[in-house]
Amino acid sequence: MTVVVLLGSPGAGKGTQAPVLAEHLEVPVLASGDLLRSAVANATPLGREADRFMSRGQLVPDETIVRVFLDRLERDDAEGGAILDGFPRTRVQAEALDVALSGAGRRVDRTIFIDVPTEDLVKRMANRRICTANGHVYNLASNPPREPGLCDIDGSPIVQRPDDHEATVRARMREQIPPLLEVVDHYRKAGVLQTVDGREPIAEVSSRVLTMIDAPFAEMVAPWEPAT
Ligand code: AP5
Ligand code: MG
Repeated sequence: MTVVVLLGSPGAGKGTQAPVLAEHLEVPVLASGDLLRSAVANATPLGREADRFMSRGQLVPDETIVRVFLDRLERDDAEGGAILDGFPRTRVQAEALDVALSGAGRRVDRTIFIDVPTEDLVKRMANRRICTANGHVYNLASNPPREPGLCDIDGSPIVQRPDDHEATVRARMREQIPPLLEVVDHYRKAGVLQTVDGREPIAEVSSRVLTMIDAPFAEMVAPWEPAT
């Protein structure tokens, strides 16, 4: 049973690295942003509530996302563990996750903070595209699809996320990085934080993340030096 939390600012590369880790550990990716985007697309009550916050670059209220995400974590496919992408991202959420996992005799085993300076992120987000079927992530500059406009994996059209327009991206940075740094601190104090330099090319970040995951934890703990 392995629970790995991927942390990082908007655009740091969580959604890019999560499937690599998931394949390696043979556990599913649970991505809070994907859960919410699917609810928005289906116009469910959750989607209608979440859309009001997401479209302004704000976090969805803790009580809503904690309920939805912990429900998802309890499903059978996550019995053997999971990669958590986008949750927790406030201290309240991190504490709620600790309580839920400890109630089931589990805990967060590893937390990987993909560290990228804020100024690099705005440009990345402008070039990001995701596929309409499954949210597979591309970048017109650093990771384009083989056939322009179509997902390599499922062939669906790739589109820009509505919250990737520059004004919303800047709001996301402003609103979401301070609570993220509190979560980083929470896991640093818990002794389960590892940091990877997310400015490296995608394949290099993947390779470093897999090396970290395969190594005994104590050898890999490094002093915390945030670039953000
Ligand atoms: P969410 O979907 O989780 O968005 P996010 O955290 O802002 O993160 P992103 O998905 O934007 O970035 P990422 O780190 O996954 O980067 P990616 O791999 O795509 O959440 C969306 C919204 O939902 C939030 O704003 C909030 O409103 C709400 N929400 C979600 N969870 C919530 C929660 N727990 N609580 C409250 N509200 C919540 O990469 C970005 C781009 O860079 C891509 O184009 C990629 O190809 C490229 N790239 C990746 N790595 C590299 C690299 N090493 N070098 C060059 N390019 C790279
Ligand atoms: Mg993502």
